[in-house]
Formats: sequence, C-alpha cells, structure tokens
Amino acid sequence: MNIMNVDYSTQIPNNVGLTEDARVLKALETWHPGYIDWWKDAGPEGFNESLVYLRTAVSVDPKGWAKFDYVKMPDYRWGIFLAPSDPARTIGFGAHKGEAAWQDVPGEHRANLRRLIVTQGDTEPASVEQQRHLGLTAPSLYDLRNLFQVNVEEGRHLWAMVYLLHAYFGRDGREEAEELLARHSGDADKPRILTTFNEPISDWLSFYCFTYFTDRDGKYQLKSLAESAFDPLSRTCRFMLTEEAHHMFVGETGIGRVVKRTLEVMKELGTDDPARVRAAGAVDLPTLQKYLNFWCSSSLDLFGSEISSNSAANFAHGLKGRPDESQYEDHVLREKTMALLTPEGEQQVPMLNALNEVMRESYLKDCEIGLKRWNRQIERAGFPFRLTLPSSRFRRSIGAWAGQPVDPQGKMLSKEEYEKRLPDWIPSEADRTFVHSLQQKVVAPGKMAAWIAPPERGINNLPVEYEYVKLQ
Ligand SMILES: [Fe+2]
Ligand SMILES: [Fe+2]
Repeated sequence: MNIMNVDYSTQIPNNVGLTEDARVLKALETWHPGYIDWWKDAGPEGFNESLVYLRTAVSVDPKGWAKFDYVKMPDYRWGIFLAPSDPARTIGFGAHKGEAAWQDVPGEHRANLRRLIVTQGDTEPASVEQQRHLGLTAPSLYDLRNLFQVNVEEGRHLWAMVYLLHAYFGRDGREEAEELLARHSGDADKPRILTTFNEPISDWLSFYCFTYFTDRDGKYQLKSLAESAFDPLSRTCRFMLTEEAHHMFVGETGIGRVVKRTLEVMKELGTDDPARVRAAGAVDLPTLQKYLNFWCSSSLDLFGSEISSNSAANFAHGLKGRPDESQYEDHVLREKTMALLTPEGEQQVPMLNALNEVMRESYLKDCEIGLKRWNRQIERAGFPFRLTLPSSRFRRSIGAWAGQPVDPQGKMLSKEEYEKRLPDWIPSEADRTFVHSLQQKVVAPGKMAAWIAPPERGINNLPVEYEYVKLQ
C-alpha cells in the first residue's frame, strides 16, 4: 500500500496499515458502533437523512487530499490519516533533542502523553455537541454545509486520538476511548474536560466566534503537539491541521460577512446608532465586540496558567513543543527567563515555566489578522468604530489573572465597578435574546438570512447558490 493513499478495504479508511494490525483494527471496530450511536444522539440534530456536499479525506497528499461529494453524515467515512513518516526525524527540543523520534511510548512518559491525547481528543466531540442545534437556524445552505463539514472533521479528529489510544496505550487507552464518548458538553455529572467546551453555542454569531477563536486555539495545540517526540502523535496532528484551516476560515469569513451586512445597513440608515441597526435586523458593532470579548477571553484560558510546571515538564521531556519550534534559536531553554506581569507586579520566570504564555502570545498575534481585515472594511465604509481584542488579563478563570477585576483594556478596577460594567463588555441576557431573535432557518439555495452577507464564493469552485445540502 502506498503511504500517500488510503486503504478503503477495511471499515475504517486509513493509511496506518490497519489490515496488518488485527488487534488495533478489532479494537476500533468494537469502538465504532458506540461512536455512531454518539453521533446520532449528540451530533447535528435533525439532519442525519440529509445529503450534504462534504469533503472527505482520501489521501494525505497535500496536492489533492480530499474529494467532495454528497453523503449522509452517519455514512461519512471517518478515517485515520497520518502525515507521511520521515524515518530520519529527530526530536527537535528539550532534553532529548537530536535523538531519534519515538515510534512507541516510553514508559516514563506514558501517563503524561495519554493525558495530552485525551485532553485534545475530548475537545473534538465536545464541539460537535456544542453545535448540535445550530442546523435548525442556519442562515443559508452554504453555512449549513460548512457547519456539518466542521462537525464531521471534528468527529474525525476524535478518531485520530482514539486510534493513538487504542494502538499505543493498551487497556488504559481503551478505557479512555470509552470515556471520550461518555462525557458530554455541559453535562452536570460528566462534563467535557475544558470549560470553553462546556459553553453552549446556541446562535451562529457564537459559532463564527468559536470557529475563529477556539478552533484557532486548536490550531496552536495541534502545532505544538505536531512537534512531539512521539512520532505518531506528531504525524496525526500535522494532518489534522490541514482540516483545521477550513474551520478558522468559516469563523473569519463568517464574522466578516456579519460586519459587511451591518455596514450596509448602517449606510442605508445613515447612522451607527446600535438601536436603529438592531431595529433594521442587523448585528450592531458594539454587540459584535462583546461576542469577540467573550469567546476570545474564554479561549485564552485554554492555554493554561502563565506559570506552569506541567508545560515545563512537557517541553523538557519532548512531549509538547512550541508551535513552529524550528523558528526559535534555543530549543532547550535551560538558561532563558521571561518577564511576566502578574497582579503582584512583574516577575522574571524561567522560560520553561512560561511556555503557556509564549503560546498565548503567538496565538493572540494570529487572532489580530481577522481584526485587521474587519477593521479595514469598517474604515472603508467611513465609520470610526474599531473592533479590538480584549487584554489577555480580561475575564480570566485560569492563571495569575483568574478572577481579577480587569477591564478589556487590561486595567485593574474595583470589584464593584467590574461587576457593574461587565454587561458592557460581554453579551448580556438582552444581547443574547436579540441575537437569538435574528436566528431563522434559511434553506432556499443561494438565499441568506438578513443579518449576514453572502460569501464571496462557494465551496470547491461551485456557485454560492449551489444546493449544498439536500434536506430529506
Ligand atoms: Fe478538531
Ligand atoms: Fe476544528
């Protein structure tokens, strides 16, 4: 079998030679029915019979890795695809730098690697659960299809992590794979591991913000795991990044289309008065800013504490690197320190312990790209309003700034003032009610809900008015 091609002869398409690995194939086939049950119970509500124009991974060749066709979602071929192996690959950072990458899990790192894989794996089905009702209020068939594309690929990302658990972690791995289907987003008894993945996503503005900010956190986590000394983890994450790019595209263009529509309404009305923009059925820019504040601050927590001995150990042992590790000069970090601002003042912290913050900073830089684009749209339309990212100290629940009364500009306030002004910074009940009132299902091909502009182009060179979902 050519490593670039996928074996479709087994129930689970793969390029990891499952036909020759009876034990792992059996384990995955045993896990499969539970996954399908989970998809039907917790996946997109009401569309399991619809034909959706989906992209399916059929190869890991960067020049043509996917095909597009109509498929019923429960029949999607979720497969296991690892980026091609490089037998000469060496470890790029930490104490083992320069040694051969690991093809198996060293005993002493077993528990930590398993935890990293489970934490990543848990986010994948969580987001599908969070988004499960959105199909009922899709602003267009184009958006509906994009939602489902994201959902099936998050499902595949779960498969990617479950494969590693089954193939490399024995009985513990099997148990963890079961638990990944047993926890549920927002469940009181068995919630998902990370807070952001328990937040409900009940409107499409939240969905675009989630795919913009939270899938981008995913990108950074995958990039840092792609550096791992554990080669199968590195290879699977590298391929996942190919799919992840589309999720962030959905977020960035989704918000861009909301901005575009809002600006059209503001121009028609000749005012930026939020009440009048709302009355005309569009999302006023201050409300959009609150949604950005909410999802950005929530996603910043996913990087963990500013000062972390876990991140230091993961790096030193070669389990998890920095995104784009090769762009740095020092890959061992024994001597380096970093200045960190905490509520107690500035501290010099060993760089190894500050890697979560290093990652958070490069993430925030990446987040700026969309803001620049949206602000250019606003500027060109002749309005003075500018969208901004909140300070990384704002509304944090984890780390040095957790629970601190800080405004979106990063300024410390009194507790009272913070509480009083919070509804000006993140969506209030009234804001959410308003945004929900806009959510109406639009399913005529090419038609859009009134609060969002059409996309510039369709999927896979097809026109915007293509019938991306055949509802049955
Ligand atoms: Fe994912
Ligand atoms: Fe994603």
